[in-house]
Amino acid sequence: MIRIAVMGYGTIGSGVAEVLKINRDSIAKRAGDEIALKYVLDLRDFPGDPVQELLVHDYRVIADDPEVAIVVETMGGVEPAYTFVRAMLEAGKHVTTSNKALVAAKGAELIAVAKEKNVNFMFEASVGGGIPIIRSLNTCLTADEIEEITGIVNGTTNYMMTKMTEEGLEFDDVLRDAQAKGYAEKDPTADIEGYDACRKIAILTSLVCGQQVDFEDIYTEGITGISAADIRYAKAMGRAIKLLAVSKKDGDGYAALVAPHLLPPSHPLYSVNDVFNAVFVHGNVLGDAMFYGSGAGKLPTASAVVADVVEMAKHLDTNIAVEWSSKKLELTDYKKMTKQYFVRTTAPKEAVEAVFGGVEYVTAEGVSGELGFITACMSEGQYEQKAAELGNVLQMIRMA
Ligand code: HSE
Repeated sequence: MIRIAVMGYGTIGSGVAEVLKINRDSIAKRAGDEIALKYVLDLRDFPGDPVQELLVHDYRVIADDPEVAIVVETMGGVEPAYTFVRAMLEAGKHVTTSNKALVAAKGAELIAVAKEKNVNFMFEASVGGGIPIIRSLNTCLTADEIEEITGIVNGTTNYMMTKMTEEGLEFDDVLRDAQAKGYAEKDPTADIEGYDACRKIAILTSLVCGQQVDFEDIYTEGITGISAADIRYAKAMGRAIKLLAVSKKDGDGYAALVAPHLLPPSHPLYSVNDVFNAVFVHGNVLGDAMFYGSGAGKLPTASAVVADVVEMAKHLDTNIAVEWSSKKLELTDYKKMTKQYFVRTTAPKEAVEAVFGGVEYVTAEGVSGELGFITACMSEGQYEQKAAELGNVLQMIRMA
């Protein structure tokens, strides 16, 4: 019997306990032994819940128990998760986490501690929920130079963009709906400002380049500026607005950004709707691959966590190498990335054409008193210069 502990009995932690129960026999078969939950760490008590009998309030009880081989961290946030996880690894326990904030900030360091202690630090659930993207990058796509990763990696904002598109609603109304459905949190900042997606693309980029990519270095725009009028323009163009997290190889480095984009129907991520996530990967020998599925939620995320538990149960005496050193990768300036831009302005046509040259105008149903146009392809830096020269820019959305 392999004894495990869960730190944090919230949505994902309780999902882990549920998955271990639902699929007990098949999980035991695949792990080669029965997986038994010995402790649950939480500040709260859960009277009436069978987990109450396993509850501890001090993480050292788990760290000091030699019977516990594997620890699951589903608390969220960097601290105290980092202190607890590090203590578990130093005590010779394998750890899996769903916590992208922890992985983005401390991933390289925790991987190094795990290696030193001959255990594993895994984090499949930290990006894309139940979608197996981390293990795919670590073990299946190792023959490739990954030239591009573009993902819809935030379920909440994808739900909101889908709802705005389908129902023509304004941002605030859709946010309230997402909160009522339990997709968006009471404080939705991390999702709607793109911070969550930013940490996820930082993790994916670190894995493909094998170095530390600091999420603070990634230019990030959320969806808070997207309005019903933007959606009307998108419809007029036959496109969909999605929050994309993009990482592209540029020489020996990578350039990354998170921002809303206008996707044509031919784009592989165009049809990814509602809370679903998808990650598009382009490798220099593989070509294209797409990973699509349930990117958030209790059981999908718990499924990925428990898959890590099974993987670790099969490698109790082996550290599985993960290429992610703490050496910082200086990202290439995102302002060198080139694309077309959709712009809304109150400036006159003459001014638009004097600054941007030939553009393609777009009209949207019910929107008046302004111009909408698509620029030629140029770098972000060039666009910024021209937009400043034009002035009166109401909106800019990147074309994918
Ligand atoms: N808030 C995240 C999302 C949860 O909406 O995708 C999964 O990381």
